[in-house]
Amino acid sequence: MLDFLRREGVAESTIKKVEEFRARYPLEDGSHYRVPKPTYLYYGTEIWEKALTALLTGENLLLVGPKATGKNVLAENLAAVFCRPEWDVSFYLNTDAASLIGTDTFRNGMVSFRQGPICQCAEQGGFGVLDEINMAKNESLAVLHATLDFRRIIDVPGYERISLHPATRFIATMNYGYAGTRELNEALTSRFLVINMPLISNENLKKLLLVQFPDLKEEYAEQFCLLFGDIRAKCESGEISTKPLDLRGLIASVRLVRNGLTAAQALDMGIINKSTDDFERQLVSDIVAVRIAPTLAAEDIFEQT
Ligand SMILES: Nc1ncnc2c1ncn2[C@@H]1O[C@H](COP(=O)(O)OP(=O)(O)OP(=O)(O)O)[C@@H](O)[C@H]1O
Ligand SMILES: [Mg+2]
Repeated sequence: MLDFLRREGVAESTIKKVEEFRARYPLEDGSHYRVPKPTYLYYGTEIWEKALTALLTGENLLLVGPKATGKNVLAENLAAVFCRPEWDVSFYLNTDAASLIGTDTFRNGMVSFRQGPICQCAEQGGFGVLDEINMAKNESLAVLHATLDFRRIIDVPGYERISLHPATRFIATMNYGYAGTRELNEALTSRFLVINMPLISNENLKKLLLVQFPDLKEEYAEQFCLLFGDIRAKCESGEISTKPLDLRGLIASVRLVRNGLTAAQALDMGIINKSTDDFERQLVSDIVAVRIAPTLAAEDIFEQT
């Protein structure tokens, strides 16, 4: 991972601090299995610099941005870079203190406390990914206030008091615009440093495609990037919604072509049908056809070996 950061152009001084962090907090036995081994790498040097520096400074991070901007990929990559066990907690409407901190349970006829993910993460110096944090009710998140600020403790009536391991960090993600998303209140937002996640750059998208599909012909990697750029431009000018601007869908489409579908079939499912409006679907379909001929198949866009 550190070599990857060097190749991405992250400052050597930052990387050195990460190495010091890792040396200061060696992994404890039994937590190796929780350290992620990322399949996807995050591209974006400036975001890397900001995120690494904030976490090195002891801060928690809130990654805010539209869908498929790599928020979870970055969070997982960060746990891997710092070589820390990761806890991934999805927030939903009914997330409450018990599901975060833990609850009393009966075991062998006795009451015992069953630790929730936040407690485990706190004690073991983990990186806690608070996924879609704004899906939960703000009131239920008040239990995290003392955990996320300078107090670095979990202190809830009825539970024992736990101090956070010095290596523990929290990385929250949030996506506004989805149905059901709510605003995070100021008290909670104030406990994070906020990174606005940009859409991947054209250059990095090409890199991503060629890394994920090493046999994709460069000219087609280029065409898929241009297509993504076209869709993006139409979104920015307000001509279409952001539904078809879906990097996940684009990557999945390329995979479908490799597995036997034509470009038209694949991009239909991955991009065009993400629109729910007939008129918009037609518009997107026209944009797609300009860059990618509908009949293209695996033998056209992939190198033959
Ligand atoms: N800058 C980037 N670098 C690398 N991959 C990226 C980048 N931006 C998006 N991706 C790709 O987009 C896909 C989605 O990433 P991820 O699941 O992290 O998105 P997200 O921001 O959490 O989306 P959502 O809000 O929908 O949960 C992955 O395949 C990821 O590789
Ligand atoms: Mg996500």
